Amino acid sequence: MPTTVELFGGTMMSPVPNPYPVYKRLRDEWPVALVDGIFGQHYLVTRYEDALTVLRDSERFSSRANARGIGLVLGRTILEMDGPEHIRHRRLITPALTPRALTSGDLPEAIRATAHDLVDRFASRGHAELVEEFTFLFPIQVFTKQFLQLPEQDAKQFHHWALDLISIADDPPRSFAAAQAIVDYLKPVLEHRRREPGEDLISLLATARVEGEQLTDEEILSFCRLLVPAGAETTYRLLGSALFALLTHPEAMDAVRQDGELLPQVIEETLRWESPVQYVTRETTMDTELGGTVIPRKMLVSVALGSANRDERRYPDPDRFDLHRDTEGHLAFGFGRHYCAGSHLGRLEARIGLEVLLERLPDLVQDDSFQDAVVGLAFRSPNALHVKYRTTKMV
Ligand code: HEM
Repeated sequence: MPTTVELFGGTMMSPVPNPYPVYKRLRDEWPVALVDGIFGQHYLVTRYEDALTVLRDSERFSSRANARGIGLVLGRTILEMDGPEHIRHRRLITPALTPRALTSGDLPEAIRATAHDLVDRFASRGHAELVEEFTFLFPIQVFTKQFLQLPEQDAKQFHHWALDLISIADDPPRSFAAAQAIVDYLKPVLEHRRREPGEDLISLLATARVEGEQLTDEEILSFCRLLVPAGAETTYRLLGSALFALLTHPEAMDAVRQDGELLPQVIEETLRWESPVQYVTRETTMDTELGGTVIPRKMLVSVALGSANRDERRYPDPDRFDLHRDTEGHLAFGFGRHYCAGSHLGRLEARIGLEVLLERLPDLVQDDSFQDAVVGLAFRSPNALHVKYRTTKMV
């Protein structure tokens, strides 16, 4: 039997404060390590180049791995498909998520209006907790309202379901209950949209054809169960970590206040520095050599995106948040055929969210009670963001 290590103890959703020293040791000493995880033994890939090799090569490293994990609650989705089937299904949603589709209509203004509405609720108070009052609510409100056309008051419930869904490794009953709750909620909506389609993603899937066939209810509901966490859970984390970076690096905050054109760089460096999604998983289709280690067929391979993005072989002084570094090639959205379908939307929302906050609260700083930190193992984001401000711009 090969030797294994159990990393971090705890569970995938534990609020691990700092996994990065462990990743550094693994990168240096055991870059393709056999570890004990929730779903049994698997290989953990921590170096940038090895991560890229896995993500690039879908022949040897199949996405069907996801059927054994998150697919248990999502159902069969593009996340676990390979080859032509994956391309056919992915194509259904990607046209709605291109930069042109996102910016040619009034979506950016609608996103901005959502951000303003949220800021209005605490702008005059002089202090706020931005995770609870802003980042948790903003992307899910945008997604459920603008992309699914569901009532605004249900957005928060959807985010709680999204969080429950992705807890499959730690708390399966909670995760399955959320999957069922989403189906119960969306089934009548789907029936209605089949009869009277609108412009939203549910209608798009309800009327789509793959090789001449309509998608079944089960296929559409699974797609929606993927889109809810994918569309909100991740962006909320990116936005929170970007704010955390600015609040804890006052020189970066000053630079951005003086030049709003630096915001895309804040977003890219945050994606590299605190990647919201820390792992993606593949399964070997044959015995395979990677980084000097032979991985047997049908083994799970976890790619630690957060480690790859802090690999000093690729990014010098990787633990430093540096607004001026070259972030080119970071893997926060994955790579290859399964590259995030919503990357443009995630970036757009994060940019507008930051713009509105900095415009409305121009002297935003940490509150005296700020002891907040970015935490998490499978997903990372700040546990809270206590802030204060004296000046408020009304719009
Ligand atoms: C900052 C925000 C986001 C991050 C960090 C992120 C991260 C990722 C990553 C790492 C993957 C690759 C999964 C894999 O290779 O197995 C992925 C896939 C995906 N993401 Fe995102 N995502 C974000 C926002 C979004 C948004 C806003 C949507 C909205 C539609 C979205 C929809 C998807 C979909 C549908 C997939 C599956 C793509 C496929 O399997 O072909 N994501 N995302």
